[in-house]
Amino acid sequence: MVRINLPKKEINTFYAFADKELPEEYCRGLSCFVNRNENMDYWNKAKEQNPRTYCLGKCYSSPSSTNEDPKPLIDIISKEPVLGNYLKNGIYSLKDYIKMGGMSSYEYAITSLSQKDVINEVKVSYLRGRGGAGFPTGLKWESAYNQKEEERYLIINGDEGDPGAFSDRFLMEYSPYLVIEGALIAAYAINAKEIYFYIRREYPKSISRIKNAIIEIKNYFNGKKIPKINVEIGKGSYVVGEETALINAIMGRRPEPNSRPPYPTERGLFGKPTVVNNVETISNIPYIIKNGGKKYYDLGFSKSRGTKLISLNSLFKKPGLYEVEFGITLDEIIKKAGGLKRGNLKGLIIGAPLSGIITPEELNTKLGYEELKEIGSSLGHGNIIAFNDETKIADLLYEILEFSSYESCGKCTPCRLGTKKLKDLISKGYFEKNELKEVNDVLLALKNTSLCGLGIGTGDVVFSILNKYGNEVIR
Ligand SMILES: Cc1cc2nc3c(=O)[nH]c(=O)nc-3n(C[C@H](O)[C@H](O)[C@H](O)COP(=O)(O)O)c2cc1C
Ligand code: SF4
Repeated sequence: MVRINLPKKEINTFYAFADKELPEEYCRGLSCFVNRNENMDYWNKAKEQNPRTYCLGKCYSSPSSTNEDPKPLIDIISKEPVLGNYLKNGIYSLKDYIKMGGMSSYEYAITSLSQKDVINEVKVSYLRGRGGAGFPTGLKWESAYNQKEEERYLIINGDEGDPGAFSDRFLMEYSPYLVIEGALIAAYAINAKEIYFYIRREYPKSISRIKNAIIEIKNYFNGKKIPKINVEIGKGSYVVGEETALINAIMGRRPEPNSRPPYPTERGLFGKPTVVNNVETISNIPYIIKNGGKKYYDLGFSKSRGTKLISLNSLFKKPGLYEVEFGITLDEIIKKAGGLKRGNLKGLIIGAPLSGIITPEELNTKLGYEELKEIGSSLGHGNIIAFNDETKIADLLYEILEFSSYESCGKCTPCRLGTKKLKDLISKGYFEKNELKEVNDVLLALKNTSLCGLGIGTGDVVFSILNKYGNEVIR
């Protein structure tokens, strides 16, 4: 299967920035919304801007724009850092990375381990996808490895569209060598001859850092065979981060999600077995190969092993990127971040914006995939957005539905029409009791018939608001 070069004009209608290089952008992400009072000028500009920019990955200093680019606080709250040491000061040359032991995991894997050994270590570690779905990485690799087709691909998903998240951004900016080393090991394990990085356009530094690091690494392996590494740049779309949409985008098709099966590991890029892994997922691999899967498994708890990068928004006193071990409670995270800098905590959105809201009464919940699901939320990218009593729940819901309806690709009717319908209903500031049947019907359709997490997640967040903050939004 070859690239389908549909007319560029036709494809570009899908994207927000296809033909546009915006010199100045104001972020309309949820983190900017909940802290809009700190800079109403920025927020008003973000609201007026067309096309919109949903998340520049600067949520630690939101409301944000392209005009400034402060560094986030980076902290490690884990007995054993897996990623934090590579992020604290940033690594700006391959030489420095190698001095820290970098590239030795890849060298070790290709010289001393079979592909099955590598996959087995990853299975032992019980690393799960950090892109949101939480699928075990070792099983995903094994599925691709076991396919009959010899031509295989690896895609590294650097689209990081979830507002409030900036962990992938700083992995790519501060430690691109680590990300690429993880990708090289993954490509070896599944026998991929080609790797694609897909990086969102809103992260220009991530793009240039990854591109430059690829050149350094190619020179370092001069003469030795390493997979071809390509970099594709996003054009402004949230849904393109969904793995089947991403595959369509790289093939030059409209980036709409496909129904599954077949899964990408069976039939992915150009119809060939393909592993799609998130940037943070893949960054854990060098540690696992160097230290063994068991050592990684010993971190964390329950079915959530290892560590996780948590992005905390600017309403915290100490916002930034924290490496934590799974099993820490939400309350502990908030305390480490010094609590809120203003107002009383009204709720948290983790995995924003398409994930159920967490109330202050639920803060003893432990950070873990299943544990967050139990309270109607999800881990997402580990992006935690706190909001305070300055924000009315109906306004928050309106903003979330603005996002869903703007970003919906339109392939599923309930998502295309339902997100807009819900937005129109809540625009007056509440749902009337006699509207609840209609609201419920839309929510059930979203939950049960959506093709991807955008529609399903919109259903989740509205359900959670009705259940937990019903007294504020129903009249
Ligand atoms: C609407 C939507 C957007 C997504 N955006 C991203 C994204 O920006 N980055 C990402 O890694 N995964 C994203 N995902 C999840 C991917 O589909 C996929 O599960 C992930 O890239 C697989 O990598 P992992 O197993 O390492 O997590 C998104 C999913 C949905 C439904
Ligand atoms: S749920 Fe929404 S975003 Fe996802 S495929 Fe359907 S219409 Fe597109």
